[in-house]
Amino acid sequence: MRKLHRSLSVAWALSFFLFSPVFGQTKIQRTPQNIDSEGHQWWQHAVFYEIYPRSFADSNNDGVGDLNGIASKLDYLKDLGVDAIWITPCYPSPQVDFGYDVSDYENIDPMYGTLKDFDQLSSQAKKRGIRIIMDFVMNHTSDQHKWFLDSRSSKTSAYRNWYVWRDGKAENQPPNNWVALFGGPAWKLDPKTGQYYYHYFYPEQPDLNWRNPAIKNAMFDVTRWWYKRGVAGFRLDAVDTLYEDPKLHDNPVLGGKNRYGDPNEENKYNLKLPEIHNVLRDLRKVADENGAVLVGETWTSDLAELERYYGAHNDEIQLPMDFLFGYVNKLSPLEFRKQIAAAESVHGWPVYVISNHDIVRSYVRYGDGAHNDAIAKLMAGLYLTLRGTPILYYGEEIGMENNNPVRVEDVKDPIGKLGWPQDKGRDGERTPMQWNNSANAGFSTAKPWLPVPQSYQTHNVATETKDPNSVLQFYRHLLALRHTSRALLDGNYIPLNENDPNVLSYLRQYKDETVLVVLNMSGVEQKVSFDLTQQGLSNAKTATLLTILSTHPDQPALTGITLEPFAVYIAKVSGASKTNN
Ligand code: NOJ
Repeated sequence: MRKLHRSLSVAWALSFFLFSPVFGQTKIQRTPQNIDSEGHQWWQHAVFYEIYPRSFADSNNDGVGDLNGIASKLDYLKDLGVDAIWITPCYPSPQVDFGYDVSDYENIDPMYGTLKDFDQLSSQAKKRGIRIIMDFVMNHTSDQHKWFLDSRSSKTSAYRNWYVWRDGKAENQPPNNWVALFGGPAWKLDPKTGQYYYHYFYPEQPDLNWRNPAIKNAMFDVTRWWYKRGVAGFRLDAVDTLYEDPKLHDNPVLGGKNRYGDPNEENKYNLKLPEIHNVLRDLRKVADENGAVLVGETWTSDLAELERYYGAHNDEIQLPMDFLFGYVNKLSPLEFRKQIAAAESVHGWPVYVISNHDIVRSYVRYGDGAHNDAIAKLMAGLYLTLRGTPILYYGEEIGMENNNPVRVEDVKDPIGKLGWPQDKGRDGERTPMQWNNSANAGFSTAKPWLPVPQSYQTHNVATETKDPNSVLQFYRHLLALRHTSRALLDGNYIPLNENDPNVLSYLRQYKDETVLVVLNMSGVEQKVSFDLTQQGLSNAKTATLLTILSTHPDQPALTGITLEPFAVYIAKVSGASKTNN
């Protein structure tokens, strides 16, 4: 997980015009069917939305969000255009890593509610055609999980081999040089039995031993248990980390220190081991038996790695996240073209994500401090019009910014305490959802577990709903357009004007439907022209579907289109078209 920081400054909203989408295209029903008449799976057409339950909506006013809070916002989500919600871990947990340290996989933490609340949320969501994706923390449990408590109780425990226990190299020396992602050695000495256990993350998150077949059985049963309860799939946490070299070779040391003061090393022997794919294939079989989808937290560093996560026969993860796209981190048509081309070239269905609970919000990473709202719309215009499944992070649709702690004593995320001030942790991107401009942004009447940024006064659901030029209204229109446009859902991606350093343009083409997307990634007015002869559209005309152009909203020709700074222009193209799908 990489962290990116950029300084914040006051956002200045560029005024713009929003066209009501023109839905002259094939009507596509948003029904909860698993597969459509043309063979597309539901998750290929779906818009996913990540909810960090601590921060979404607090129904019992204790300062922490909960499941009933989520249930109370389902109409909002439906109206926004969300088809599936991924809820980050809401299982019982000591909350060392805010839920990613699970102490019981088959229950709900009382701070979030009960299983009954979950069932209610699930049935309410179902009524609205919204599916639920749970988070599956498969690499490690909490050190308070009953398996680990038993495992650590003695060397002869029936659960001993469920975790990775080893003798030290010598007195007070861990078994090897592996460093934990969250600081310090990846081994912790347990005085009771005098052995070390392995933890890739915090010491309170001991790694499960996936080489023991009992783990597979127990963990796969967890997924079956939730499938029976109606969940539509899982987001697989930290899949890269499932296996370790059984011989425990030292990792190569790279020189220098990381932000926690540990030696930098290449994770040659404890990340992305090939055995992972056997587990994923089998997990996929269970998912298939239940008509479910697997979304992967896959930190791939190149295309080949991403490709592998789909499986050689598309028999592993259906939706591995492509962070290479989300991490372009500059408004560079060149870089985005490259990443889109890469995603397009894999044999699976692309996934586009630009923010999550571990990354500085995209509003800050891409914003220039002066035109952040316009840039937020520009980014929406990009990742919501590509061929693939987008995953929105809550609050992205209202232009939420990071609210990083200013004093170390306020930090909640343990890595923020350890890495201060270089790494302030992940609190900043996890602050409460901003519902209105009342106290605590309408999230709770109690003091929220994390403070809301001042920008909640302008960037909140209620205020933005009333403003036709808001980021939220742009998302609503764009998602409505996406859901009704076969070209945007299923069409080929055809890059245009590939040498343009400022404007990213492409067609999405499905049978005789063609949509043109033009994104001015610069802060300067641009003029663009398109020659679509090669696409069989030489005499084409355009009809605006959605734009934020204010001075030249209607641009019926394909030549001399004027684009204001950071403009988004989406148009239906009509003319003699070729059918190549
Ligand atoms: C990835 C999760 O997204 C992150 O929040 C968590 O800390 C680690 N995995 C450990 O589970």
